Amino acid sequence: MRAKDIRAKAGVEPITMLTAYDAPTARLIDEAGIDIALIGDSIGNTRLGYDSTLPVTVDEIASATASVARATEDALVVADMPFLSFGADEADAVEHCGRMLKEADADAIKLECGPHTIDLTRTLTQLGIPVQAHLGLTPQRENETGLFRQGTDDESARRIVDLAREHEAAGAFSLVLEHIPANLAATVTDALSIPTIGIGAGPDCDGQVLVIDEVIGLSERVAPFSKRFGDVSSEMRDAIAAYADAVESGEFPAEEHSHHEPDLDDVY
Ligand code: KIV
Ligand code: NA
Repeated sequence: MRAKDIRAKAGVEPITMLTAYDAPTARLIDEAGIDIALIGDSIGNTRLGYDSTLPVTVDEIASATASVARATEDALVVADMPFLSFGADEADAVEHCGRMLKEADADAIKLECGPHTIDLTRTLTQLGIPVQAHLGLTPQRENETGLFRQGTDDESARRIVDLAREHEAAGAFSLVLEHIPANLAATVTDALSIPTIGIGAGPDCDGQVLVIDEVIGLSERVAPFSKRFGDVSSEMRDAIAAYADAVESGEFPAEEHSHHEPDLDDVY
């Protein structure tokens, strides 16, 4: 899958996207035929034990992206650029985004967007680095904006539509819309020819994205706009408890888990 294949799906077929942070999960996502595997900076909360996405580093995203790319054959692998890895100095941003393709084998990168990412989107696209834009709730700006629903008044709704158009014109191949009113997401989707991929943005986007840990039931909490489709945590809890019981009771390891070297009986 390439960025242009995702682009071509707009209005034709729903696009499926999930986050992935490691090889075994990425393999399952890829085998299921999910279109896009996103190495989200949500890895900070889901897997690295941080309270927000802000501490996540370029190295952490690059390492997780490489793991996902090694396990993925068909899905588009998108690396989410972490806080302050872009948006100030363009040369630094190009280097950080370039690393995701050159070192980590990503197919594209995602940027939390604003007025400061329009020119960068054009530069990256021209250099051959496909850009997925992201508007609406942008958690990297939580200290500035808080984590509230965006686009709820006329002015901020208009700002989202304008920025969406500007990023499409700058070459973005798709747009993630996070936590905005469903009717605004529908308006943005109508206004663009590139696909919109929503999370908490209603049913009228061209695709949907969720955090894998919430989908499989690995995370403790599930966002109100998200949905748990499985309960991996209880499977893990049962397996871990069963292992501890088996060791404590002497049931494990059993004869079949051990091997003997007859020669060693004579060593002492
Ligand atoms: O980091 C992430 O998981 C994301 C998705 C919610 C789109 O940016
Ligand atoms: Na993100």
